[in-house]
Amino acid sequence: MRIKDCNNIMDFRHIARRRLPASVFHYLDGGADDEWSLARNTDAFNDYELLPSQLSDVSNIDLKSTLFGQAVDWPVMIAPTGASKLFHRDGESAVIRAAEKFGMIYSLSTLGTTTIEDAADAGQCPKMFQVYVFKDRGLTKEFVDRCKAKNFTALCLTVDTPVAGNRERDIVYGVSAKPRLTLKNIIGYARHPGWVYRALVRKDLDLVNVTSSDAGGQMTSGAAEYINSQFDRSLTWKDVEWLAGQWDGPLVIKGVQTVADCRNAANSGATAVMLSNHGGRQLESAPAPVDCIASVADALGDRLEIICDGGIRRGTHVAKALALGANACSIGRGYLYPLAAGGQAGVERGLLLLRTELERTMALVGCDRINKLGERYIQHRR
Ligand code: LAC
Repeated sequence: MRIKDCNNIMDFRHIARRRLPASVFHYLDGGADDEWSLARNTDAFNDYELLPSQLSDVSNIDLKSTLFGQAVDWPVMIAPTGASKLFHRDGESAVIRAAEKFGMIYSLSTLGTTTIEDAADAGQCPKMFQVYVFKDRGLTKEFVDRCKAKNFTALCLTVDTPVAGNRERDIVYGVSAKPRLTLKNIIGYARHPGWVYRALVRKDLDLVNVTSSDAGGQMTSGAAEYINSQFDRSLTWKDVEWLAGQWDGPLVIKGVQTVADCRNAANSGATAVMLSNHGGRQLESAPAPVDCIASVADALGDRLEIICDGGIRRGTHVAKALALGANACSIGRGYLYPLAAGGQAGVERGLLLLRTELERTMALVGCDRINKLGERYIQHRR
């Protein structure tokens, strides 16, 4: 199968599986424990039905919207995900160039393999930087200053990762930036010598944004060990207030699911929330983000922008999230499978398919403007 034969986001997964060393594929594809939340994130969309309003003149479909005070061509953004160069040599820059073409917001992760400065220079799309707070608190202030200097639009704090989730596929396959040459892995890596060269010789997989401190710049053992040794578990909403004061711009809290936490976010100075269970990689049995939207929108829709993060593979999923009250959706694996499958060209094809599906859904549901999607177009399955 080639990129041009992919007809939907999940088709890219087949190519990704072939192109990546097994440990890397499973790091991308896997979730916590029994992967119930991971599966549920997508399955939960099937609990909702779209209600068409026929003969509504859909000759022009307008997907334009705004997010974080920025105009966007459609309300889907690139989620912050770690280490894009694990998945393709062109890494974050390839995704930024694709996001720019598609008029989207791009998110760079603390655990990215491209610096804040290089990401800023890679393309003109508005950018969000996602922060993990390390035990070395000086790093957070440094991130904020660097993002300001490079005109990032928004800052995002991920709050669902005080410790690493139990990702058993990582235990079995052993992902890390330095390939762990266990007997099990050696055959897998042998089929991907270019990948091993980039990791070991070019050091492409260094976490370049954290090297300027004593905090680890490399995931030498594994993702879980890294998170457990570096991240600060003592964070509270007081720290969000501190961050809001430092940043003084759009502040997004990622990894909340309840109205109570979203209210805490708003009260602490956040302007947006990403309803997310970290792609099913952290707390197993956390609800699917789509199921959290309506109550949060009802209680806090006038105070917070709401982003549905998790499980989105289809244009209908985006339409459903928006009809339930989200302002936008974000995609993680939804762009990482295409990235792994074919770099920038892969991401562009993936985004084109998703956007075309959304446009088609809008026409079929009888709604010509994305901002008009609302509760009249959706019902919970009876
Ligand atoms: C993950 C963390 C690092 O999900 O964001 O792998």
